[in-house]
Amino acid sequence: MHHGQGIRLQFNEVATRDGFQMECDFIETDDKVALLDALGGLGFAKIEVTSFTSLKAIPALKDAEAVMQRIRRAPGVVYTALVPNVRGAERALESATDEFNLVMSVSATHNLANLRMTQAQSLSQLQDVIALATQRGVPVNVSLSCVFGCPMEGEIAAEAVLGWVARFASLGVHGITLCDTTGMAYPNQVQALCEAAQARFPRLEFTAHFHNTRGMGLVNAVAAVQAGIRRFDTSLGGIGGCPYAPGATGNVATEDMVHLFDCMGYDTGMDLPGLLGAAATLRQLLKHDLPAQVSQAGPRLTRHAPPADFADIRRRALAR
Ligand code: COA
Ligand code: ZN
Repeated sequence: MHHGQGIRLQFNEVATRDGFQMECDFIETDDKVALLDALGGLGFAKIEVTSFTSLKAIPALKDAEAVMQRIRRAPGVVYTALVPNVRGAERALESATDEFNLVMSVSATHNLANLRMTQAQSLSQLQDVIALATQRGVPVNVSLSCVFGCPMEGEIAAEAVLGWVARFASLGVHGITLCDTTGMAYPNQVQALCEAAQARFPRLEFTAHFHNTRGMGLVNAVAAVQAGIRRFDTSLGGIGGCPYAPGATGNVATEDMVHLFDCMGYDTGMDLPGLLGAAATLRQLLKHDLPAQVSQAGPRLTRHAPPADFADIRRRALAR
């Protein structure tokens, strides 16, 4: 049996970006800032604060500048944001964003639906963004959507995915996130793509990003870890999804993933009780139930009182 003794994992919280972009009611800027300040102390390597996208495309995150400027920066945490084009990069620079998370889809159809550009147009925009980031000394990560399948196109060939990774590697980005945008991945597929990507691009930092749309998020995460992946995007409460991908639902919940890897003996460095507290705050803020399970059931050694008539049950059993 594989066990994770001593292996360090890194978590990137995406609830305030991937999560909030899917919420119907606008979340007040003060509430976003308070949540982000609470998350800062819980052990995350990185927090995706917001996205500098068009206000019409993602109205939920129209306060990106205010949020990025007002949060308290916890030492050691990288505060990243999603950037779709040069305009977004300029906004992110003005708000002192630590890292740009660029986005494009390996599916031509999803790229058009989500970003209103062909893949060639996206690539050319992102080349300009990378040039600007390089000039200003800002590290760049690229999140590739739909790498394990597209809800409109179906299967996406692993070779095509690796081709996109190669293009961005040659442009000098430091990291690539392999995104399962609508929960189409399954464990042996995850293992094969993660192993191939790391073998071919040993100097790139890979992150895995799973959605739990078909209940396979956690098994896919275990497959990724066994294939050598050490970084994960997760979302508090399990909220999230791309508004331009049909059928999208939440990311794997941060608290569920941390609980799993803590149980398996990995070094998550995360404050699970603190996460459960933050999840309770998030639930109050969103006024609806959250898909995460550990925040409902508690950690595995949560002890419950026996039934009220337990003394009676025991007495009768012993008298038999
Ligand atoms: N920030 C703010 N405004 C922006 C912007 C940015 N990064 N990029 C474009 N805009 C504005 C333009 O100024 C223009 O405004 P106007 O109508 O008032 O003149 C409007 O948005 C449309 O601009 P255009 O360049 O034609 O963009 P578009 O409508 O083709 O949209 C994107 C392209 C990429 C900006 C938009 O589709 C987008 O932000 N998508 C994000 C999708 C996303 O985040 N999905 C979930 C994550 S996977
Ligand atoms: Zn996502």
